[in-house]
Amino acid sequence: EKGAYPFYMMKEIDEQPAVLRRLTQEYANLDGSFSFDAELLAELQASDRIYIVACGTSYNAGWASKNALEAMMNIPVEVHLSSELGYHMPLLSSKPFFIFLTQSGETADSRQVLVKVNELGYPSLTITNVAGSTLSREAKYTVLLHAGPEIAVASTKAYTAQITVLNLLAKAYGNQNGVKAAKEFDVVHELGLTATAMEAVITEKETIESSVKSILASTRNAFYIGRGEDYYVAMEAALKLKEISYIQAEGFAAGELKHGTIALIEKGTPVFGLINDEVTGPHTRGNLKEVESRGAETFVISSESLAKVGDQLILADVHPYCRALLAVVPTQLIAYYASLHRGYDVDKPRNLAKAVTVE
Ligand code: M6R
Repeated sequence: EKGAYPFYMMKEIDEQPAVLRRLTQEYANLDGSFSFDAELLAELQASDRIYIVACGTSYNAGWASKNALEAMMNIPVEVHLSSELGYHMPLLSSKPFFIFLTQSGETADSRQVLVKVNELGYPSLTITNVAGSTLSREAKYTVLLHAGPEIAVASTKAYTAQITVLNLLAKAYGNQNGVKAAKEFDVVHELGLTATAMEAVITEKETIESSVKSILASTRNAFYIGRGEDYYVAMEAALKLKEISYIQAEGFAAGELKHGTIALIEKGTPVFGLINDEVTGPHTRGNLKEVESRGAETFVISSESLAKVGDQLILADVHPYCRALLAVVPTQLIAYYASLHRGYDVDKPRNLAKAVTVE
């Protein structure tokens, strides 16, 4: 039930810190071990490449998890759209392992790929929020998201739950296989800090709401820019904004702007910059200067240690593997308020269904 909340989406945004804590309890044991299926970990160990297959927000969660997975598992990871893979299997490695990310577990495009994967006899894992769903039943292994029912069409807590579960799984795998990056990542501690940092962002709702009113009230388009993990979050941020506010939005790799897209910037175009990485952050700042000088209205979301005077929203510094979890939260709130103030039904955007069960 949504209780006092006007829309489920806000309730689900607010639930995210609790979801992180619940998942930590679910999969990380007090003695330092993890409760993932031993056979699953063994099959991952026997594979030479992981193929993440998903659609929409789940696809974006795959990208946001890729770097942490590769670092902690020492296995190359590819992220694919189900609707593309369904028609063209790339040249696969000799021992592929498929991970299906799907909140609903019913997405037809993803299922179509799973059917092929099963025909080919490759191992598969479905990470889903719905026990007993089609993709869960048909994959060899299932890991549940334990996010509680997600009602709003715009996915929020499933995205953060997917990244969290993949962090936990990668940590469990890396620990077992002696991967240094995994051993050094105190997943329980870092996810706890991230949950607390999410709560701090959530208490800044009103600041976000008033900025949204001023810069997104009547715009036709908007951009999110970032590099690395921030780029992956930008992809998700733009999808959310499009989906519920109908503002044409693009998530852009900041360095690519000058190769074409900057032509779209005019006076008043909103550009949100994500700056959470010490290496790429200064470069993204440079890109923000470029768009500002062409009239863009910028909004900077920066981690504390990289923040500059005038930045609109400051996030706590969290572990690099947890940055996407935190950085996505203000972008969910931005999309929510943009939809609300434009007078739309936040939970039920036009033309969309919660589970896309047709191809
Ligand atoms: O249930 P799934 O995770 O497989 O759904 C995939 C997409 O349809 C879904 O993430 C969609 O993009 C959301 N409405 C985005 O908010």
